[in-house]
Amino acid sequence: MGGCAAILHYSNTPTLQFNVMPMQIIEHISEMQHWSDATRRDGRRIVFVPTMGFLHDAHLSLVRDGKKRGDRVVVSIFVNPAQFSPNEDFAAYPRDFERDRGLLEREHADVLFHPSVREIYPEGYQTHVNVDKLSGLLCGAHRPGHFQGVATVVAKLFNIVRPHVAIFGEKDYQQLQLVRRLVRDLNFAIEIIGHPIVREADGLAISSRNIYLSPEERQAALCLSRALVRAACMVQRGETRGRVITEAVRGGIEKEPLARVEYVTLCDSATLEPVEEIQESALLALAVRIGKTRLIDNQILKP
Ligand code: PAJ
Repeated sequence: MGGCAAILHYSNTPTLQFNVMPMQIIEHISEMQHWSDATRRDGRRIVFVPTMGFLHDAHLSLVRDGKKRGDRVVVSIFVNPAQFSPNEDFAAYPRDFERDRGLLEREHADVLFHPSVREIYPEGYQTHVNVDKLSGLLCGAHRPGHFQGVATVVAKLFNIVRPHVAIFGEKDYQQLQLVRRLVRDLNFAIEIIGHPIVREADGLAISSRNIYLSPEERQAALCLSRALVRAACMVQRGETRGRVITEAVRGGIEKEPLARVEYVTLCDSATLEPVEEIQESALLALAVRIGKTRLIDNQILKP
């Protein structure tokens, strides 16, 4: 067995040495900007995947997508205090930097940008970005200040990483639309890509928060994706009335004793304003508490 390991080791080493640059870890803004400027001058296309770390398969799927869309992939890990409200525990957000670093190395990310809170929000910091209407709808109505925190940090990260392309998951659909709006409104020359929702085999959308679910709650959490499937079936059978669809979805979720609905909304897929009737398509978005854990999911519905 030892011989096999040695053969593997020696046969792999030259490939690694010649084809793969080690991942760079950058902690400071000036160094990140310097790297990006030099990379742009070399004519390379930079793809950016912002995250808060504690990486799971969905994050890694965004990174893999990024590898196909450009020449260099930068992943940021920054748990952004500005997007947590006082009753949400910023300090308790799960973190495991060494594990994340290993996972990103395996995906051949080029740069891991990992700034401190002080680097991003130094003493005296007082500028915030607000996307007025989009910030107050859906999750924004239940998480005051959250989207201002997201918009602010994303705008800062765009100015620091200076990417050509940035990838965001459709699981956080409102965040994706907010970033699209922000890029248009503030004239960032960045292409925004939405990545489809990555799900567990049984349908549950992957999320860092799934680790908080007990086995019983994990089972109960399936009521979200099942409700979306049910809505899609209704629409396929010809139902287009918003109220009928949302009431059926709400009713289905409320049959699950561990679930508490925060919202079930049918809305325009760009503005996120509620719609009463599906015309060409609409977004069905939901937020549900399973025990103490808040989960979100969504689906575009097309008649
Ligand atoms: P985080 O929750 O770490 O998510 C990072 C990216 O992964 C986001 O674009 C999110 O939409 C995407 N993602 C998470 N779970 C997904 C899933 N199951 N399917 C598809 N994409 C998924 O979102 C944030 O961090 C932060 O708000 C951030 C944008 C980094 C700003 O702080």
